[in-house]
Amino acid sequence: MIRIAVQSKGRLYEDTMNLLKEADIQVKESKRTLLVESSNFPLEVLFLRDDDIPQSVASGVADIGIVGENELREKHEDVQTILRLGFSKCRLSLAVPKVVNYTGLSWFNGRKIATSYPNILRTFLNSNNIKSDVHVITGSVEISTGIGLADAIFDIVSSGSTLVHNHLKEVETVMKSEAMLIGNWNMDEEKHDILNQMLFRFEAVRSAQD
Ligand code: PRP
Ligand code: ZN
Ligand code: MG
Repeated sequence: MIRIAVQSKGRLYEDTMNLLKEADIQVKESKRTLLVESSNFPLEVLFLRDDDIPQSVASGVADIGIVGENELREKHEDVQTILRLGFSKCRLSLAVPKVVNYTGLSWFNGRKIATSYPNILRTFLNSNNIKSDVHVITGSVEISTGIGLADAIFDIVSSGSTLVHNHLKEVETVMKSEAMLIGNWNMDEEKHDILNQMLFRFEAVRSAQD
């Protein structure tokens, strides 16, 4: 048996469940259960917040996981990256209120930026010599300018509809991201065999799509 950590809701969740379905790995989805066993494959699915997936795999609570590169880069956990999955594509961007007359990166000097990705943001600001006040919040980042909590935000953008909804505009793209399959460094023989069977199926799904 192998245990995979998967996002409990959101875009990654949808795309991951689709991948498992197409690989003919049946998982009964249930809103309340954290741990679900597949009925036709030696796999257990652990549903978590995406933010917690890198650590759960690094510590061995899960053997493998599907998570965005954004969370991987932010968390600096020691895991192996097994496969780029090519779905749940998005970018991490700086956005400001639509009404702002944005003149370039120096606009951010002395401004307050709300984000759930402080490490990636600080690295970016430092390398561009910008000094901002980074304000860390774990959710609903996009409403923080509207309620006077921050001057700008740094968050995930996919379709862009969340930005439009909150009267924001994307002004700088800092990194691109997609879903990745990650793994714990110390899996035994049996788990490796199961992982290889999964990879074989994922490969078949992918070539069927080409
Ligand atoms: C992200 C981000 C926005 C939304 C943007 O959240 O925080 O809320 O998606 O997508 P859009 O451009 O298509 O509107 P996500 O669901 O990835 O997960 P999170 O709860 O970890 O932020
Ligand atoms: Zn998250
Ligand atoms: Mg969000």
